[in-house]
Amino acid sequence: SDVYLNGEMLPLEKAQISVLDRGFLFGDGVYEVIPVFHGHPLRLEKHMERLNASLAAIQLPVEITITEWRSIFDQLLSRNPGQHQALYLQISRGSYASRQHGFPTETRPTVFVMTMPLAPRINDSLDDVKGGTAITAPDQRWQRCDIKSTSLLSNVMHHQLALNSGATEAILVDAEGRVTEGSSSNVFIVRDGTIITPPRSHKILSGITRALVLELVVNDGTYPCEERDVSVNELTTADEIWITSSSKEILPIIELNGIPVGKGKPGGVWRHVAGLYQTYKA
Ligand code: PDD
Repeated sequence: SDVYLNGEMLPLEKAQISVLDRGFLFGDGVYEVIPVFHGHPLRLEKHMERLNASLAAIQLPVEITITEWRSIFDQLLSRNPGQHQALYLQISRGSYASRQHGFPTETRPTVFVMTMPLAPRINDSLDDVKGGTAITAPDQRWQRCDIKSTSLLSNVMHHQLALNSGATEAILVDAEGRVTEGSSSNVFIVRDGTIITPPRSHKILSGITRALVLELVVNDGTYPCEERDVSVNELTTADEIWITSSSKEILPIIELNGIPVGKGKPGGVWRHVAGLYQTYKA
């Protein structure tokens, strides 16, 4: 497949960067994963806004306009056609003559974009969705989880913990016993017909899928929803648990720490909201 690297389209095998790249040495970079359904990137503007917020937070100036991004994405998607895929975009602070922690005075960012296959979790029939399983784990990350940083060591370790116990995702709990998010997803719960998700803060990534779900639920009006702290006790006794992300869409969690959630199958509120999402993305 062809990828984009620093202004060029080239075959994946030819795309190479220096071992002195700060993305490699320090994890000094940010990224985005943008789902593409039927050739159309979903919520592209929101992803680019979040990218710019991440770049501003790490003080990395990048002069690429939305029009230029769009043209890069269009070229990549036409070179790598596919029904459902994702655009993976990463910008690091670039490579310099030696390894020094401090920001270099002259910035030459490394800009990389590739397409990745994406298996849509929400297909035509919601009946086919089996749901996933999760464990809870102490959130061991830093205080700026709102930055979509490529420094993902804690997330990777949290996720592997889940895989090692046969689960799909680790749902993270802070030192005060509040649910933050998944290792690579946001978390929603349903209690007595109310949809609840932890509020935006430095403790979570502000998910594009999370925002879309909230928007769809509010516009639809069938279920009340709240953005507020969720205790681990509210999580373990929830009627439904969902995790959301650009790649997982809205995935119902049917078992938490080996115990069935609700009736142990995707819930009725999930079904309704997944239907709204399906209509939106069609
Ligand atoms: N992860 N929280 C974390 C820690 C994430 O890594 C992600 C996404 C989300 C959901 O955000 P969104 O709805 O914008 O995808 C929340 C991506 C998909 C990844 O790392 O592959």
